[in-house]
Amino acid sequence: MQATIERAENIDRYALSVTASKRVRWSIDEDVIRNRKFDLTQKFLPDGLSKVKEFTFLSGAEQRYLSQIQGRTYANIFGLVERYITTKILELTRDHLFGDQIALEALVRFSDEELKHQELFRRVEKLVAEGMPPGYRFTPQPNDVAAVVLGKSTWAVLALTSHIELFTQMHYRQSIEPDENLSPLFKDVFLFHWKEESQHAILDELEWIRADRKLSAAARDKAVDEFIELVFAVDGILQQQARDDSQYFTATCNRQLTVEERDKLESGLLRAYRQQYILSGAQHPHFIKVLTSLITDAQTERIQSALSTLV
Ligand SMILES: [Fe+2]
Ligand SMILES: [Fe+2]
Repeated sequence: MQATIERAENIDRYALSVTASKRVRWSIDEDVIRNRKFDLTQKFLPDGLSKVKEFTFLSGAEQRYLSQIQGRTYANIFGLVERYITTKILELTRDHLFGDQIALEALVRFSDEELKHQELFRRVEKLVAEGMPPGYRFTPQPNDVAAVVLGKSTWAVLALTSHIELFTQMHYRQSIEPDENLSPLFKDVFLFHWKEESQHAILDELEWIRADRKLSAAARDKAVDEFIELVFAVDGILQQQARDDSQYFTATCNRQLTVEERDKLESGLLRAYRQQYILSGAQHPHFIKVLTSLITDAQTERIQSALSTLV
């Protein structure tokens, strides 16, 4: 009886996500970009995420420039991870091909939206590059990252994905939406992105729980370790990007930074990136709720002690 009720509730959640996906659907050119360019007199990433106010050795204009570099990287990181997300979701559609057709439609729409988001973030990078000095580097390749991530179990991949799609929403609602001093185009990119991500977070959770049901205790224990490995793989990307972004800032900020300032810049960027891409998701109340409902206290402690090395 309990299983039947749960199944009916899940079917409803797939159906609700299809309805919401149809209602919010948008187009890159007509709704988001609308022939606009990024306004470089304004910030891109809000202070709540970029933490530029903590870079007290930078002037106001330099803090704004650093928020623009971080915003550029923010868009590129989404474009990067959405390659593996699309692939994983397409793979999961197979389980529904001859089953629940609403669930199938929900996942097809999810993949279609992530393909569109990848295109959006490629467009964003092109537009930003037109207005900023040359020399910016973003070296991780979407297919390389996908090969590493998709080598792990579905449970671990969906844990990572759930965390990403939950923090995406939290960043928009808590930091991007309320900030009045952002480039209007940058703000719109993440407004429209957020509208579709809300459905993705629901679907990640449904699929994550479905994958969890298929696992033995030993397989789940291994999946917990794989999730930790994925978090550290993300951290490797962030360490490299913090180095690249601090070098780009140093080369293009029109003054000579001292060695001490350069060190503070790189360590401050890494701290901000870890908060943006790892810790804000790991601390998301709903992520913690779902994760801890699936694993043991000892496994939760293993994850927490791994994360504590990144603070
Ligand atoms: Fe997306
Ligand atoms: Fe998404």
